[in-house]
Amino acid sequence: LLRSDIPEGLRRLPGPKPLPIIGNVLEVGANPHLSLTAMSERYGPVFQIQIGMRPVVVLSGSETVRQALIKQGEEFAGRPDLYSFRYINDGKSLAFSTDQAGVWRARRKLAMNALRSFATLEGSSSEYSCVLEEHISKEGECLVKQLSTVMEASGSFDPFRHIVVSVANVICGMCFGRRYSHDDQELLSLVNMSDEFGQVVGSGNPADFIPFLRFLPSRTMKTFMDLNARFCTFVQRIVKEHYKSYDKNNIRDITDSLIDHCEDRKLDENSNVQVSDEKVVGIVNDLFGAGFDTISTALSWAVVYLVAYPEIQEKLHQELKDKVGMERTPRLSDKSSLPFLEAFILEIFRHSSFLPFTIPHCTTKDTSLNGFFIPKDTCVFINQWQINHDPALWKEPSSFIPERFLTADGTAVNKADAEKVVVFGMGKRRCIGEAIGRSEVFLFLAILLQRLRFHELPGQTLDMTPEYGLTMKHKRCQLRASLRVRDQD
Ligand code: HEM
Repeated sequence: LLRSDIPEGLRRLPGPKPLPIIGNVLEVGANPHLSLTAMSERYGPVFQIQIGMRPVVVLSGSETVRQALIKQGEEFAGRPDLYSFRYINDGKSLAFSTDQAGVWRARRKLAMNALRSFATLEGSSSEYSCVLEEHISKEGECLVKQLSTVMEASGSFDPFRHIVVSVANVICGMCFGRRYSHDDQELLSLVNMSDEFGQVVGSGNPADFIPFLRFLPSRTMKTFMDLNARFCTFVQRIVKEHYKSYDKNNIRDITDSLIDHCEDRKLDENSNVQVSDEKVVGIVNDLFGAGFDTISTALSWAVVYLVAYPEIQEKLHQELKDKVGMERTPRLSDKSSLPFLEAFILEIFRHSSFLPFTIPHCTTKDTSLNGFFIPKDTCVFINQWQINHDPALWKEPSSFIPERFLTADGTAVNKADAEKVVVFGMGKRRCIGEAIGRSEVFLFLAILLQRLRFHELPGQTLDMTPEYGLTMKHKRCQLRASLRVRDQD
């Protein structure tokens, strides 16, 4: 069906009138999460804009998004063929490529199994419930030491710069069985350039939709391509080393387990899904990439919120002191006894909505939603920011109030409210790293809060305005941290 042929009984999508060539680019502007939220108030939860020549359907509202991604999940599970996505993982990304449904499903299952088995593996001693907890605890301790050293040497630190190395080390441990020092230049130059990545692949980047923009010189685009190429080279070198030292009887990490899957498959003549070895082993590239940027962005925001709300920081420390004490490192199993920390994390997810949109989706066949016709291959943006700030769901949505998630007596998190926060997407494309992400944010934060107190630099005002991208970051800043003294604080 053509876009202009609306089947009987269905309606044409509402939306602003597009200009020739550029469509609605000017109205979408530099902060699509805000402009598209404002448009949803005018046009409703399902509307259409045009970016360049390409129609894009924008979905908002918890019920509508649930209907599309869960109840009509198959129809909204595709990825659009966007220019920038072709450069990610050499066009073979699990998360961004336009893989056929069968190939994507097989790869997603492999990735989920690999993550699950390498997160839940036994730790090296009975002190830890699993390797994930062991990696986070050790990296958390290192981070506390690293921040104290930097504070002593220079009197301030850039939170993202150090957090990102610790978080990258957790996923590197699981994927590659190794960690890097906080001064490793190669790792630093990869993980500290992720801003450009997010800026280019964030929903609504005009160069993805207006072909001639690709031919104009762009520093961001050049950095993006360079970053992707270096990322691939970095991972490929590690994969090659793994192939050389691979031993079927000693599967060391996720890379080994993916290689093992390919080897097994060669022996299995009945295997029916055609996925190349490159696409199987390449999954590790997605896990590594998705595994550090999201979590370090969340943690870096958390530290900035602690500094902006010192009374909340003290209350969180007190909760840790009362429930865990100062003698031992916090554990994943402490989560249920730290409801205020859990509420604080939920409020950071909601208030910052640092993943304002999911990765763009695409319809896999002609379909309809709320009575509106949506043809096959239509690019679809899911506005998570709008859901997390919807006045119909939240009282005072723009205020930062962790207590909103607590039960009346303050002793537990209200589950129904927690589930209203949307940052991991939902349905068929829902994030596969959610459990790991939530565990890392919780345990790293618990360790930092137990041991350190964060402050603003005197004379500096914090700028909390997010910079738009796939993951929205706060502006790079300098903060101070001081060690908590066991008996006094
Ligand atoms: C996809 C959020 C951590 C792996 C996604 C999506 C979101 C998201 C919004 C897109 C969903 C969609 O397109 O509808 C987050 C957040 C995280 C986090 C907020 C941390 C706080 C992780 C981690 C991993 C991971 C730790 C892996 C180790 C992936 C993968 C996909 C994905 C592979 C693509 C799934 C697919 O296309 O089928 N994530 N993520 N994520 N995430 Fe995460």
